[in-house]
Amino acid sequence: MDETSARSHTAEGVAALRAAGARSTDPVRHNPDHLAERLISRRYQLLLRVRPLRAIALLWAERELAGLSLFITARTKHLDAILLTELEAGIKQVVILGAGADTRAYRFGPQFPDVAFVEVDHPATSAWKQERVRRAFGEAAVRYAPIDFHSQKLADVFDDLSVPTLFIWEGVTPYLTADAIDDTLATISRFAPASSVAFDYVYRSADGAEKLRAYLERHNEPLRFGLDPEDVKDFVTSRGLTLVSNATAEDLVRDHLTGADGKPIGPSLEYSGIAHARVNQS
Ligand SMILES: C[S@@+](CC[C@H](N)C(=O)[O-])C[C@H]1O[C@@H](n2cnc3c(N)ncnc32)[C@H](O)[C@@H]1O
Repeated sequence: MDETSARSHTAEGVAALRAAGARSTDPVRHNPDHLAERLISRRYQLLLRVRPLRAIALLWAERELAGLSLFITARTKHLDAILLTELEAGIKQVVILGAGADTRAYRFGPQFPDVAFVEVDHPATSAWKQERVRRAFGEAAVRYAPIDFHSQKLADVFDDLSVPTLFIWEGVTPYLTADAIDDTLATISRFAPASSVAFDYVYRSADGAEKLRAYLERHNEPLRFGLDPEDVKDFVTSRGLTLVSNATAEDLVRDHLTGADGKPIGPSLEYSGIAHARVNQS
């Protein structure tokens, strides 16, 4: 996305998949994002509320990109778990980078009233989000910081880097240039040592990612950045961070998408992982 582009449509699409997952009564398929449905537009809400339409929409989504729906559920659970651990460890700020229709500020914020929530996003998507939040929840205790990662610096959003902060960068790195990613991580690495960043990434060398590439081209949000799981440690280390965890596609299936019989409940993306890295002690 550039400065003049329209809001991100993939942001609403993934929120709709979380909302569909939140309606599942199967505990493994269930997505914990119970607020996503309130942020998506009326046409998506209608699709989800009428059971046969929901089933057709999910089949269609699966045909478009097999495994995306279950991957989104695993990603929500995995990042929610990191968020909860960091909140309980005492961080004072949560920054959602490329927030789209992320609901963590509204789901976790009320339980942690002393923690500041900041949503950073492209100006067009941020304006859409703020309108959706006003309609759904009225006023929210969230700071919105509209920036384009390709032309503006994350550093300009913060006056005080001494606040222990968790950055969540979900579903965003694939859309950014390597320079924009480096600039953002350079700012994060200057935050207080307890701070950390969790981000997902698409494997650079995965055959399956070709389908994702074609899908995103069609939605005018081209795939720009990839990273192979074995390179993640060096990648974060050379950017002033220490790797805390690196969940591969297989790890995510094992931890979040396995039924009581020990078998995977269905296909997930085979080419996406989630890393968590902490600012080095100086
Ligand atoms: C697939 S959506 C993910 C949204 C949200 N994090 C989630 O997982 O539901 C991608 C997000 O990245 C943001 N984004 C893409 N390119 C950007 C850029 N150059 N600057 C700022 N945000 C950008 C979009 O506005 C959008 O919110």
